[in-house]
Amino acid sequence: MTKRLEIGARRRKGVAPIRLGINIDHVATLRNARGERHPDPLRAARLAVEAGADNITAHLREDRRHIKDEDIARLTAAKLAPLNLEMAVTEEMLAIALKVKPHATCLVPERREEITTEGGLDVASQIETLAPYIAKLRAAGIQVSLFIDPEPEQIDASAKVKTDAIELHTGTYCRAAASGDRRASERELKRLIDGARQAAALGLEVHAGHGLDYDNVGPVASIPEIVELNIGHHLVGEAIFVGLAASVARMRAAMDAARESLRHSDTEASLGT
Ligand code: PXP
Repeated sequence: MTKRLEIGARRRKGVAPIRLGINIDHVATLRNARGERHPDPLRAARLAVEAGADNITAHLREDRRHIKDEDIARLTAAKLAPLNLEMAVTEEMLAIALKVKPHATCLVPERREEITTEGGLDVASQIETLAPYIAKLRAAGIQVSLFIDPEPEQIDASAKVKTDAIELHTGTYCRAAASGDRRASERELKRLIDGARQAAALGLEVHAGHGLDYDNVGPVASIPEIVELNIGHHLVGEAIFVGLAASVARMRAAMDAARESLRHSDTEASLGT
């Protein structure tokens, strides 16, 4: 093998696969609109895993507006796929996580009046509170991720509080992409690329999510340091038109295609083509 080909092969091997975490919160939102049992988030989770999702993400909000404690208990018992429990940094949620022992938790800021998680967690201003909180989760064998904006200060602070991973908030990028403002979209994408690099260099695993859809997912899935995307609203919304299995399978394919083109571009770069 020529030297260039060897480097290419090494780099291709170095592109980690990308996981899809399906966020099933809005299946619960629909169920709760009627206050009865249908549609069942557990059934949605099972279908999503069969269709190509790797993880199940569920946000147990303090006001229980969608996912409820019973959903978390049923998801845990069903052991369909690793459970990523999104939660606020409160004593109540810490006690629940330590009891339920999900595979991972994603710590998010939470305001009761918000429609969805609007911004990232301000890690930099809460280092003293977060470090012991994270240590308790990790001591119980639970992986911890922090949902943050792609800001250098927040990424540095995330390494300081010894989290396992960060999840970069893609909401601003997704809104810029939808606005048709190419410059803004490129600027926001660059913030994600730089943030992912910075975090990986600090030894953090990098995830991303919020507002992702079929049109905007490609460039994010092409960031090599990002190894997991958590996606909910678009997939559940699309399920109304095409069914959940088809909506998840299409997202899986879009993510895999982006990853595959990354491998090809690595090969081409190493061959100097
Ligand atoms: N990741 C986190 C931390 C979130 O709070 C959310 C929204 O609940 C998502 C991912 C998924 O976002 P969306 O529903 O827009 O795909």
